[in-house]
Amino acid sequence: MSKGQTFEEAKEKVDELRDTLDKYSYQYYVQDKPVISDADYDKLYRELVKLEEEFPDLISNDSPTQRVGGTILPGFEKVVHDIPMLSLSNAFSETDLIQFDKRIQKLTDKKIQYICELKIDGLAISLKYKDGKLVLAATRGNGTIGENVTQNMRTVKSVPLRLKKPYTIEVRGECYMPKASFVALNEKREENGEAVFANTRNAAAGGLRNLDAKETAKRNLNTFFYTVADFGEMTADSQETALKQLDQLGIRTNPERKVCETIEEVWEYIQSFQDKRTQLPYEIDGIVIKVNEFDAQEDIGYTVKAPRWAIAYKFKAEEGTTTIREIEWTVGRTGVVTPTAIMDPVLLAGTTVRRASLHNVDLIKERDIRLLDTVVVHKAGDIIPEVTRVILEDRLPDSESYRIPTHCPTCKSELVHLEEEVALRCINPKCPAQITEGLAHFASRNAMNIDGMGPKVITQLFEKGFVHDVADLYKVTYDELLMLDKVKDKAATNLLTAIDASRHNSLERLLFGLGIRHVGAKAAKQIAEHFETIENIQAAKQEDIIAIEGIGDIIAESFVTYFSLPEVDELINELRLCQVNLVYLGKKKAEVAQIDSYFNGKTVVLTGKLTHFTREEAKNRIENLGGKVTGSVSKKTDLIVAGEEAGSKLDRAQKLEVTVWDEDQLLKALEGEENE
Ligand code: IVH
Repeated sequence: MSKGQTFEEAKEKVDELRDTLDKYSYQYYVQDKPVISDADYDKLYRELVKLEEEFPDLISNDSPTQRVGGTILPGFEKVVHDIPMLSLSNAFSETDLIQFDKRIQKLTDKKIQYICELKIDGLAISLKYKDGKLVLAATRGNGTIGENVTQNMRTVKSVPLRLKKPYTIEVRGECYMPKASFVALNEKREENGEAVFANTRNAAAGGLRNLDAKETAKRNLNTFFYTVADFGEMTADSQETALKQLDQLGIRTNPERKVCETIEEVWEYIQSFQDKRTQLPYEIDGIVIKVNEFDAQEDIGYTVKAPRWAIAYKFKAEEGTTTIREIEWTVGRTGVVTPTAIMDPVLLAGTTVRRASLHNVDLIKERDIRLLDTVVVHKAGDIIPEVTRVILEDRLPDSESYRIPTHCPTCKSELVHLEEEVALRCINPKCPAQITEGLAHFASRNAMNIDGMGPKVITQLFEKGFVHDVADLYKVTYDELLMLDKVKDKAATNLLTAIDASRHNSLERLLFGLGIRHVGAKAAKQIAEHFETIENIQAAKQEDIIAIEGIGDIIAESFVTYFSLPEVDELINELRLCQVNLVYLGKKKAEVAQIDSYFNGKTVVLTGKLTHFTREEAKNRIENLGGKVTGSVSKKTDLIVAGEEAGSKLDRAQKLEVTVWDEDQLLKALEGEENE
């Protein structure tokens, strides 16, 4: 923006920026479908702020800079926040922070500390507790009026329905989706031909603001709380003590916070998270810096929009630009055909990226992605490389719209684009790609876990005509294996051993491995545990399956349809003849409660490299003795087993004084108890 522009020129620009920002903010907040990156939005926003500073007469109530953000959706009951939910002003550099520090020093005479917290990338929520009971959960909405999402929030396991003390308080925090759940959810959506979420925030918003709370429950949402809006019986004189008290009440807070004496120390803390952020199991988009002491906070005060005593340091969005060379199409086991962009190498969050998922054909059309386009790429959920947008100014003059394939890249049959789906599908049940993908899924780690039986081996076995369905895997011979590329004596023997070992798997692995639509590993486990044998499952009616807690209509219907097919009957018979176990071998929940074991009721964390068994195996054995294995160390952890090169989890366990064992101790304890 150039100095010296006239009022009229500035007004025109301001109007244009407001229209653009309003449009983006509608797509972002209302539709949960952002079309530009946060960094680009921030750039436009700051341009508007600057213009308004230069021409204050142009400021009006309806400017995006003058409101706290967002619009209310119909469908949820509206909630007026007694205490408005404010936002934070942003800092983008060390200089911005130093200026913030200077402002603070001017506004208070007190010696202050700063508390740094992670800026969790989710959506803000407020919880009201009355006499210790959760009575209301609301989204932020526009800061003054939000939506009543109590029913949905109750399904989020980290939210206590009852506090440890009968307090009447209001607390605020962030509802988010862990990275791993985001990746799994998008994989599943892609497989089902549904649109994928652009980031964890949208996925969390979509989950929380679903009118059916049952859907929310499936999304594995989580929360961190960071503000007390109404203190009720609580007495705290600083943010640090307030957070500690929230911990004591059973409200989840983020453990990574740190009290700093100076702004330099704050900067060091920020630096330390530039790299660490990618290793966190949830997404953060910055660090929030707050004045720790409440009496100093009061001195410093608020603007209409945000507290003056806090600022959000925003990390640079991990973005890069590159050129698309090719679009590769692959067929999944459900027949969905997905495009992948093959690009010139680009460095993103520390790794070189050459491929980015384009997810589905609609996305290519919507974003008008073409060969040789220069594109912006980022990592969704910090993990999955994705094409965000095309830089149109750099498009070649002779560029043409991308020609979407009409035929399956593998079997050449005509592809279909079902109306309700965003994906293209190959509907040929004999499509080799679908079959080999299905076989690879069957052999994969969470299914039958046949070590060494990866896509390369499977494709060859299929192409040579040795294997047509999953039962054939159990008929493969040593001589056949030797005929495969790069398979020698040792590999063949190992493969046969792995195949044989998989015969003894518990039923849930087989159920999951069969690749029944909508049936994930968790549902497979619940169903196997409930029915115990494949015969019971084959005889089960839809209503019997729905009766299992957590299993809905869609899964139940898919199950019944699958097992009603005569070819499935035949396949199960074949598997039986091949001596594949068809019985649930785990303990039933009711039996677990009876177990007399050190592990029963204990929460265990496994970390570092284990050498005697795989993590999965250790987990199963602990669970069979009634223990629970979780991923992160907290005060609730009873035991941590540290393998080789254990890192931060072990440090944290030691800080929390959790019992630490090495792998040998675990092995001895398990063996001792299992032999009793
Ligand atoms: S404090 C009075 N602390 O960031 C201000 N906010 O841009 C209350 N956020 O709407 C915010 N982590 O949704 C605070 N540790 C944290 C946060 C955090 C994430 C979000 C929150 C807020 C937005 C502000």
